[in-house]
This record gives sequence, structure tokens and C-alpha cells, in this order.
Amino acid sequence: TFPRRVFSGIQPSGGLTLGNYLGAVKPFVAAQESGAEALYCVVDMHAITVWQDPDNLRRRTRELAAFYIAAGLDPERSILFNQSQVAEHAQLAWIFNCVARMGWMGRMTQWKDKAGKNAENASLGLFAYPALMAADILVYHATHVPVGEDQKQHLELTRDVAAKFNHDYGTDFFPMVEPVIEGVATRVMSLRDGTRKMSKSDPSDASRINMTDDADTIAKKLRRAKTDPEPLPDNVEGLKDRPEARNLMNIYAALQDLSLEDAMGQVAGRQFAQFKPLLADVAVDRLAPISAEMRRLMQDADEIDRLLARGAERARAIAAPVLRRTYDIVGM
Ligand code: ADP
Ligand code: NA
Repeated sequence: TFPRRVFSGIQPSGGLTLGNYLGAVKPFVAAQESGAEALYCVVDMHAITVWQDPDNLRRRTRELAAFYIAAGLDPERSILFNQSQVAEHAQLAWIFNCVARMGWMGRMTQWKDKAGKNAENASLGLFAYPALMAADILVYHATHVPVGEDQKQHLELTRDVAAKFNHDYGTDFFPMVEPVIEGVATRVMSLRDGTRKMSKSDPSDASRINMTDDADTIAKKLRRAKTDPEPLPDNVEGLKDRPEARNLMNIYAALQDLSLEDAMGQVAGRQFAQFKPLLADVAVDRLAPISAEMRRLMQDADEIDRLLARGAERARAIAAPVLRRTYDIVGM
């Protein structure tokens, strides 16, 4: 049996959204607070599967680190680092490239979405992305991975890689990781279309709340969020088949750490014209201190770089022996 160890990461590839906060970073903080040993990574090697401007990549790597810390991750208690600084990720990924099958990768919905009809022109790295993700997790023998709903399939693939490696080499060296996909905000939806995920890659800025939006922008986007004409229902069951209403209620609940039932109890029957300003107040209360702290941290790039370098050292202390043992099992 493997001791409980938490790992997760986010790409420094674009603006950070409320979806990243509620679906990922807030659960990261919760895992840290539960006392688990936890590693949180800025996955820059995943980001470059699609071309990134180098200066932007450097800036966004620091911005994501600042987001982690501003949102409550403590660089002493958790290990915060940048993926490319720990070479063991890439080294284990190569071995996993040789374990994973082409067919597995071809079935990933994210690959199909991102490569689309132009797969011939997508990078080889974009195709192999889930094998690198398996390495990110398994190089620490991590057991629990907090993520949003969209990462579920990739985590199943991580389990498949671990199982096939263990089977092929007659070992039980790699653990079966458990996805941690819990709570009401595992899939925050677009503010313009309740059937699409809120994403930094959506062309409409009005569809998302960015962690860098100011209070007025947050309030305006929420006021203009798409809704149906009915008032909020009396109970949770009434949200069925009302994706926009459900999404706003999920956001309202998650921002206050309430269950959906308790959040519904506060605002049942209200018109959106009354509810939206309330939601905006809750969002601004929760997000403004984080974005202010991010801005403050970003003023000292050297300090962020020092924290990340220190995190990478601590991460490597765990990863290096795992990689050495893997090479040994493989016969290298
Ligand atoms: P994005 O999906 O914005 O491109 P990443 O792929 O780097 O960002 O995802 C980082 C983490 O944020 C993942 O755990 C992902 O599941 C989570 N996440 C991203 N968008 C959402 C969303 N709309 N709702 C919930 N979680 C999300
Ligand atoms: Na994603």
C-alpha cells in the first residue's frame, strides 16, 4: 500500500479562470488543509504542446505560481514547483510513451477536441500529453489527484499506464491513482452558454470570469450572464433542465463553501435580477483579495523564481529515487 500523497497541476497557457479556481485550486488548498502531503505543479511542458510565446510562458508560469500562493497554498507545507525544472517528469514520460498504446491516446476526447480535423498538423507532444501527465503523477507515487471533471478520462489513462507497466514488468511498483472530483464546482460552465465548459480558450471574454478581472468587470459579467426567464426554483430538484440557473447556483454555493441545498435555501424563489447582484457580491468578496495578492506577488519575480526553485529541489528528492527504481525494473 502507498501512503496518501496528493499531486495536481495547471498549465500556464492562458488566463486563469473561475473554473480553474473552483475546480482545481480551491480543492488543492482543501487537500493541503487536510494535512496530506501535496505537490502542485505549473505544467509548462504541457503548455508547449501548443506553441507559446517564450516571454509569455515565463510570465504566466510566475502568474500561476502567484495564483497558487494567493489562493492559499503555502510553499512551506505544499511543494510548489515548475514541471520543466524536474527532469524526471520527462524521463519517466519516455518510458510511459513506450508503455501506452497509440489507440489509447487516439480515444482521448481532449485530443479530439484540440487537434480537431487537423490532427496531421498537431504536435506529437499534444498526442502524447496523457503519457506525460501519467508520469507527472506517478513519478511521485501520488495516490490522489484533485482535478475538474474534464480530466477524468486522462486519469483513467494514468491508471491504465500504471497497470500495464506493472503487468509488463511483473511488479506492483506504481499505485492506482484516485481522481478527486468532488463538490458542486467540478465543471463550471460558460456564462454565455450553460452547455459549454468555462474555459480560457473560449473566444468570448464575457463567457468567463478571469482571476485578474476587477470588481466592476466581475459584477458586469455576472449581471449579463445568460439565464432563462423563470425565477430560481424552490429547491435543488427544480434546477433540473435549467443549466444556466444550475451553473450560477453551483458557483454561488462553491464560493461560500456551502452545499447546493444550503445555498438554495438562501435564495429560493428569487428573480435573477435580485440574485445576480448577490452572486456578484459573493464573487467579488472571495476573488478580489486573491487577485490583489497575485498582483502584489507578481511585483517580485525573483522571489517567485526562488520559491519555485526550492519547490523543484524538494520535488526532485521524491522523484529521483522513483525514477532510478523504474530504470532498474526496466533494465536500464
Ligand atoms: P483549462 O481547462 O482552462 O485549459 P487546464 O487544462 O490547465 O486549464 O486545467 C487545470 C485544472 O482546472 C484542471 O484540473 C481542470 O479540470 C480544471 N478546470 C479547468 N476549467 C474548469 C471548469 N470550467 N470547471 C471546473 N474545473 C476546471
Ligand atoms: Na483542461
